[in-house]
Amino acid sequence: MKFTTAVLAGCGLASASVVPNDRPVLGRTSLFKRTEWDVCSNNCELRDVPMPDKNNFGLPLEGYWSEQCPPLIIGDYDAPLATSRACLDFQGTNLYFNFSSFPGYTLSAASVAWKVKGVVGQPSTWTSPPPTNDITCDAPSTPGGQYICKLSFADILNVPSSTSLLDLLAGICPLTDREALIFYLELSGTAVPVGGGDAVTFTQQYPCTQRTNDRQCTAWNPEFPYIEVAYRCSKCEVAACPPPPSSTSSSSSSTVTTTPPPSSTSAASSTSTTTTTTTSAPPTLKTCSLGTAFGYQNPVGGVSRSTTLNTLSGQGCNRWGWYESPTVAELQGGISGPLYVGAGGNDISKAIDVGIWVATANAQGKVTVTYLLNPPYALAEVHVNLVCKSAITKCAPGQYTYKAGSIPNLPTWSNPTPLTYPTCSGPVGLIMHAAVNILSATDTCPAPKAS
Ligand SMILES: *[C@@H]1O[C@H](CO)[C@@H](O)[C@H](O)[C@H]1NC(C)=O
Repeated sequence: MKFTTAVLAGCGLASASVVPNDRPVLGRTSLFKRTEWDVCSNNCELRDVPMPDKNNFGLPLEGYWSEQCPPLIIGDYDAPLATSRACLDFQGTNLYFNFSSFPGYTLSAASVAWKVKGVVGQPSTWTSPPPTNDITCDAPSTPGGQYICKLSFADILNVPSSTSLLDLLAGICPLTDREALIFYLELSGTAVPVGGGDAVTFTQQYPCTQRTNDRQCTAWNPEFPYIEVAYRCSKCEVAACPPPPSSTSSSSSSTVTTTPPPSSTSAASSTSTTTTTTTSAPPTLKTCSLGTAFGYQNPVGGVSRSTTLNTLSGQGCNRWGWYESPTVAELQGGISGPLYVGAGGNDISKAIDVGIWVATANAQGKVTVTYLLNPPYALAEVHVNLVCKSAITKCAPGQYTYKAGSIPNLPTWSNPTPLTYPTCSGPVGLIMHAAVNILSATDTCPAPKAS
């Protein structure tokens, strides 16, 4: 792996000893900009540093088809007995491969054979298959859980594990905030039928050569004993570091206090003490109720995606607000939009944009909705309704499928248990509602918006 070492040597970055922080992040889904990544979001010093982007995995053998979770199969590729997925993820300074169980089977082993192919778009850096480095995945801590394989950035780059974070990131993102590395991968393992019987082997599915409009693969190329997975890097969008602490100014002013005549020293030094205390005290924020928020989905190509609640005949539906009607396939790709407070008369120009919502479905069609508010806004209550549109008989949030009250002013919230996508003869109705607070730095609350 000469090229990566060369990239590292040439990166010329000072080896800052920035320690990655492994704090888990709440309710993240695949649509978010990469600021969610723990290494980035916890460290303002990494602002604008290119980072591998977990939302941008693609399959080079399939025209860079976007895919974070390549399919796994038991049985024949064109008529598998069961299918599952292995999801790739960046956590800390590691690339993860998380293997999910197959319906009707329990995993009994999983492993990843890997090799770096080279830099996307730079054939001179490319090595040849097969992938020869093997890692064995850790068994789940609870039966039926995921098998987890972990590949450190240092191992990917073939550098010592003591390599600094900035050097690791420079090697993992050799073209800065653009396309990055391609891997050759072979994913395999064994699974035992739930009802008993002999373990069977599973492997990755062959590269897909044909898809239907709803993303299902209908033909494969069985010539490849491996898959290729690439990712790209984006700049860390963490907030800038706060300005240097006020202690600099207080120490310089206390130096000044030594020059005046003794009579004024005590007065001057008490002034500087007061200044320091004032600037370093954290502001206490007052919680103020702002109002009701509804999720909206922006029009695509001039075609509206949201329908107003007042087109429904149910009780309490004659009000402002919207519902969405996504298909399962759309949810599996992820949908999102703004959260608006105070759009009386459905007039968005009057509304306050307090953040975003994201709705995703997993492979089994189970739906998770995440709310992400921008400061100074925070969540007090979250209500999600996911039913057949024809079944919306009431629009009052108390009747919704999922309800969370008394949320302690959090910026982020997801339903902890995914919601079932209903089987309907017509469209579904997905309503995202929240009660939103504004955290005020002053003692007075701004006037609440109309609910
Ligand atoms: C993969 O597993 C790790 C370790 O359990 C976890 O932190 C991460 O969120 C998982 N990622 C995905 C996409 O499942």
